[in-house]
Amino acid sequence: MSYDTIIRGGTLVTPNGIVGADLAVSGETIAAIGPGLGAGPETRVIDARGKLVIPGAIDPHVHLQMPAGAVTSSDDWHTGTVAAACGGTTTVIDFVEPEGVGLVDALAARRAEAAGGPAGRRAAVDFGLHMTLMDARPATLAQVADAVAAGARSFKTYLTYDGFRLSDAEFLLALEAVAAAGGIALVHAENDAIVSHLRARFLAEGRVEPRWHPRSRPPASEGEAVERALALAEIAGCPLYVVHVSTAWGCEAVARARQRGQRAWGETCPQYLLLTDAEYERPGFEGAKFVCSPPLRAAADGEALWAGLARGDISSVGTDHCPFFYAGQKDLGLAPDDYPPFARIPGGMPGIQSRLALLHTFGVGRGLISVERWVEVCCAAPARIFGLAGRKGALQVGADADIVLFDPQREVTISRTSLRENCDYTPYDGMKLKGYPALTMLRGKV
Ligand code: URP
Ligand code: ZN
Ligand code: ZN
Repeated sequence: MSYDTIIRGGTLVTPNGIVGADLAVSGETIAAIGPGLGAGPETRVIDARGKLVIPGAIDPHVHLQMPAGAVTSSDDWHTGTVAAACGGTTTVIDFVEPEGVGLVDALAARRAEAAGGPAGRRAAVDFGLHMTLMDARPATLAQVADAVAAGARSFKTYLTYDGFRLSDAEFLLALEAVAAAGGIALVHAENDAIVSHLRARFLAEGRVEPRWHPRSRPPASEGEAVERALALAEIAGCPLYVVHVSTAWGCEAVARARQRGQRAWGETCPQYLLLTDAEYERPGFEGAKFVCSPPLRAAADGEALWAGLARGDISSVGTDHCPFFYAGQKDLGLAPDDYPPFARIPGGMPGIQSRLALLHTFGVGRGLISVERWVEVCCAAPARIFGLAGRKGALQVGADADIVLFDPQREVTISRTSLRENCDYTPYDGMKLKGYPALTMLRGKV
């Protein structure tokens, strides 16, 4: 058999362990894995000696060209996915927010935006979409099964945020509808009463700078909401994926649910593993760059998240990539309004390009997680949880040839100019990486 491509002599991280072998690609799929695979005259041979060969990573949580009030997240489908590919991510899962439209129509429109845009603007990697349940009216929940049939089987819910928040009663109804349709729910878990109360109090007290953002969303606001969401999901019999877990409290709540046998998963993000709330103390308004919800936490929370990730309490790492320029977007917090400036800053941070390398340097490199666990949390687990296993997330014959050659020795210092993300800053500026993708292949194409 003649293959299109042979990746020769690399160290493959496979579901059966780490092996020294060749990997052959025919068309868009992995055709063979083994020693000494034979090349034909037309076969392109890629030398992978000294490199790790891993599955293309899957980012289960991104927000590309997402409207947020007066602004839109600054990476569109093209710029964001080019950055993803440069960082070794070959599949992203974004969101549909069906405002005033039926779920299936909104899904089709968002798909068209991602795949059908003009050349140079459409997605450069594969993508999936989570549906957002922005309300739990009977007419909306009646469409959940249709959305599953149309290909969206994961449903994002929010326990806070104006325009998105579901009450407990609504959340329960939504969970029951998702469970009945054979789907999985995602939850943004923060206690809305705590957040609203503290925000109003800080406004009244004139405490309005970015440093008051984390104080308005303390660890208890996440811990309580994660516990409550898990309890309600258990009642509804609905599988639950808790997005962007940022605290030891949230991590422990997910761990306890999993120990009880509940179908529950926790996701964390590089920003909660690597950055701390000290960033909000930057001079002037610069702390705005780090405003995201939930906020960055104390170093001890990051340590607990690393431990949870290693133990399997946290199942996956997404980026929650939601970039806004500092100039002209994040600094809108300075504009006059009823909310304190910290609550007007568009929430979210860039990070789509750096996840694999950050987790390698600061997880594998510091001995906190193994190479296999790194691949599990960035590739295999998101694929399994969101129904992509078999095609994505693992190096196996028959799967899509989504492959990354990762050079574990390559040294890179993260800077704005080293990234393809469309943003005027990176929260990881100056971080020194050991290990970086050398080549990314999407369905056989470099
Ligand atoms: O602040 C954040 N994380 N913005 C993105 C939307 C979300 O809540 O995930
Ligand atoms: Zn969220
Ligand atoms: Zn998000």
